[in-house]
Amino acid sequence: MNNIEQTLSIIKPDAVERNLVEDIKNIFIKNKFKIKDTKKIHITKEEASEFYKVHQSKPFYSDLCAYLSSGPIVVMILEGENAVLANRRLMGATNPKDAKDNTIRKLYGISIDKNSVHGSDSIDNAKKEIKFFFKN
Ligand code: CMP
Repeated sequence: MNNIEQTLSIIKPDAVERNLVEDIKNIFIKNKFKIKDTKKIHITKEEASEFYKVHQSKPFYSDLCAYLSSGPIVVMILEGENAVLANRRLMGATNPKDAKDNTIRKLYGISIDKNSVHGSDSIDNAKKEIKFFFKN
């Protein structure tokens, strides 16, 4: 049975800064995701705070928002079979030191903050996050 979904992916400032955008996009393409839309942007701390609002009670919230707005990011709509879960598997554990071999965070992540990529964690959040960056 086909279960085609869309999810939101962000290539974070640490990976953009190290010129990893094409490498990471190629990993998505090799893993059968279609990149339906993509753009490079630089968001404000206020926008990052809105995007990561679900984490507002966490002790790392302020640093997280400062980090996401610290430099250019690349946002993408990924589409594919079970895309939400498939993308989370391909990214690997939040903390790169816990991520399995061949996951994006194992390959490129530096730390729990500079973990190179973000991906929506549910279909509901994917819809919200796609709308956040791609409003039309
Ligand atoms: P991301 O998938 O973008 O979602 C929230 C981010 O918070 C997460 O990746 C991490 O980069 C960051 N973060 C920082 N500290 C923590 C922590 N202790 N637990 C989970 N996420 C954290």
